[in-house]
Amino acid sequence: KWKERVFSGIQPTGTLHLGNYFGAVSKWVQLQNENKEVVFSIVDMHSITLPYNTKDLEKNVYLMAASLIACGIDPQRSTLFLQSQVPEHTQLSWVLGCLTTMPRLGQLPQFKEKSSTLKDVPLGLYLYPVLQAADILLYKATKVPVGEDQIQHLQLAHSLARTFNKRFGETFPVPEVLIQKDCSSRIRNLRDPMKKMSKSHPDARGRIEITDEPDVIVEKVKKAVTDCKSEVTYDPENRPGVSTLLTMHSLICGLLPEEICEENMLLDTGRYKSIVAEALVEKLTPIRQEILKLIDSPEYLSKVLQEGQQRANLIAIDTWQEVASKIGT
Ligand code: ADP
Ligand code: NA
Repeated sequence: KWKERVFSGIQPTGTLHLGNYFGAVSKWVQLQNENKEVVFSIVDMHSITLPYNTKDLEKNVYLMAASLIACGIDPQRSTLFLQSQVPEHTQLSWVLGCLTTMPRLGQLPQFKEKSSTLKDVPLGLYLYPVLQAADILLYKATKVPVGEDQIQHLQLAHSLARTFNKRFGETFPVPEVLIQKDCSSRIRNLRDPMKKMSKSHPDARGRIEITDEPDVIVEKVKKAVTDCKSEVTYDPENRPGVSTLLTMHSLICGLLPEEICEENMLLDTGRYKSIVAEALVEKLTPIRQEILKLIDSPEYLSKVLQEGQQRANLIAIDTWQEVASKIGT
């Protein structure tokens, strides 16, 4: 019944890291290469829900566009656009906000985690998942590839689609959530392996950014927190530190973590770290070089985003008109 369409978004809060890359972006590239209709948004309005610097935001939008292209997003085949350039996102989020409740939003783990560090919690942070639901529903997405940390947000998007459809008539597909089922579902923070690797974490030493220079990668991996045991074994529950190294390594070389352990049975974690670092450097060097090239042509990047906006707009305007007429405004 619904036309197949993939949608996902990423915040231009900082530099793309390996969690984003393996948890989301590599999947986006795969879907694009399977010739699916794909729409990807750099969600700058999500980035302003936490304190930020205007100059950095502008710079990060370009850096994110360059990074996504360097990772394999082809602007000819994918619609790549900036969220704030399509005003229907906020319009739809208002309507959806009227269909959910404050307790429902207050319960969400990401909200609890992010707001716990703030003295004054911005309303926008609270509404974050409603805007995210609007992003998805505006494009009538049937598939949403995201990292595991987004499951609860996608459940909200599902219930908002159902509530809207029930109240105003069939309008939105309930999108299928695509989560990498292998070990990539959550890449953890190298300094604090109980937490996920995140762009917004203040300590950049806990994440490998795709623009990191080789010596920075080596240093970050060397300082990654592991436990007091020196064997290389894969046990994400009890040994999250060394398991995170194995996860990253496994995603790069295509072997299972258990197979890598067997191969490196004779090494201690210290020696194993240098093997992981080397694999990371080899994987990321060509991507970093491509980013540096792209970031040097801001005219090209802004043209990409402009064309993306035009394509996104065609869908967004249609959906919004349908919504506006159904809700009686
Ligand atoms: P961040 O939390 O790093 O700021 P975003 O909120 O912009 O990242 O999320 C972009 C995408 O990357 C989402 O699909 C999210 O699920 C995914 N993602 C973020 N961090 C990780 C991680 N550590 N492991 C796997 N996927 C992740
Ligand atoms: Na996030």
